[in-house]
Amino acid sequence: MKVSHLSWLIISLSPSLLVQAEELPDKQTELVAKVKQVGQAYLVPRDLSSIPQGEFGDKVRLGYQLFVNSQQMRDSYVGNNLNCSNCHMDAGRHANAAPLWAAYFAYPAYRKKNDKVNSYEERLQGCFTYSMNGTPPASGSKELVALSAYSYWLGMSGLMDQAGITTAVAELSDSDLIKGGKREDMLLPEAVKTAMTQPERAALPGKGFPKIAAPKLAYSPKRGSEVYQAHCQSCHGADGQGYESAGVYSLPPLWGPQSFNWGAGMHRVNTAAYFIYENMPFSKSVQLSNQQAWDVAAYINAQERPQDPRFTGDIKQLKDKYHKHQGYYGVSVDGKPELGSKAYGNNPKRSD
Ligand code: HEC
Ligand code: HEC
Repeated sequence: MKVSHLSWLIISLSPSLLVQAEELPDKQTELVAKVKQVGQAYLVPRDLSSIPQGEFGDKVRLGYQLFVNSQQMRDSYVGNNLNCSNCHMDAGRHANAAPLWAAYFAYPAYRKKNDKVNSYEERLQGCFTYSMNGTPPASGSKELVALSAYSYWLGMSGLMDQAGITTAVAELSDSDLIKGGKREDMLLPEAVKTAMTQPERAALPGKGFPKIAAPKLAYSPKRGSEVYQAHCQSCHGADGQGYESAGVYSLPPLWGPQSFNWGAGMHRVNTAAYFIYENMPFSKSVQLSNQQAWDVAAYINAQERPQDPRFTGDIKQLKDKYHKHQGYYGVSVDGKPELGSKAYGNNPKRSD
């Protein structure tokens, strides 16, 4: 009796587990990183003070608020102490820190791998699941509409200024906003259409994080710990947990239960090295050597963090399926237990 009960349970559970495992990774595809070009001009979005009054402007403003103070979604959609703007710096406007104005015009994106199209809101959901270690807001929710509206407004206002158009950014319906700007039926002023082709708008200079050359010596968490002490510890703390005052994190945690999880793009050593080289130490960026950036990226990513949400019980299986890249998931460093085996939980409440 017991055995047949159990097998029924497994049969009835497995389809949903499968669906989850198949759906999650697609939303977090690695961006194509390109080497930075010297003397490149970046798109400049309009000043936030020029966001119009009215219903549409309110959505844009809400998107901004959610992006810079994502902690207002803590315990609903956010499961760690990060804000979106901790990585997408300057409120998502900083070139070479995956700016929203460049991202918006790159979606919907076609994924050859599984013949699927990713909308902009699905890409946003990916960062909620992994970078924010949370549970994403539902498709079409006011949060995803607002974050899309903010991204669209930043990008479109920049493109319009570049084309010499000074009128207000046209309003879009909620259902169009969440799709992203790389659509045949995307509403674009004529001058914007003729200034650039669709593929050019989808690959604006400053998009993502610029690629840096591979390190001369194989990257090393050990050397990275020295870089960390000298260049990072004063802000992010000896324990990597950042700094909180009166309940507000002004300095974000880099590992541990309150940071991004093992499925997030930033856990890959290459992605973190690109981000760090270009953007850290804060306000003194592009001063580490290439080797230092790789080593310190290895150091922060060879520490335990929340579990990869695609985990279904077997680290090795997950590693073989989703971690064929530069990262430490399932790897033992300095004879310690393999990383992932002591991972923290997904989407914990702040009080947990
Ligand atoms: C821990 C750092 C981190 C945090 C926090 C974070 N992201 Fe991201 N985000 C990334 C990385 C890294 C990528 C690039 C993904 C890759 O290459 O794997 C990315 C990609 C994106 C993209 C696509 C960029 C492009 O050019 O295609 C969007 C849009 C985005 N994130 C939105 C968000 C939103 C919204 C939040 C907050 C809910 C958020 N991110 C929080 C690190 C972060
Ligand atoms: C002067 C303080 C300061 C120093 C030094 C510093 N950081 Fe940061 N770091 C910050 C701040 C502030 C943010 C969030 C940026 C924002 O919100 O605009 C951040 C964000 C980050 C993030 C993304 C968010 C997260 O929590 O994962 C990473 C990764 C990071 N720093 C790594 C480093 C590394 C590695 C070094 C050393 C090479 C370093 N930082 C040095 C202040 C600093």
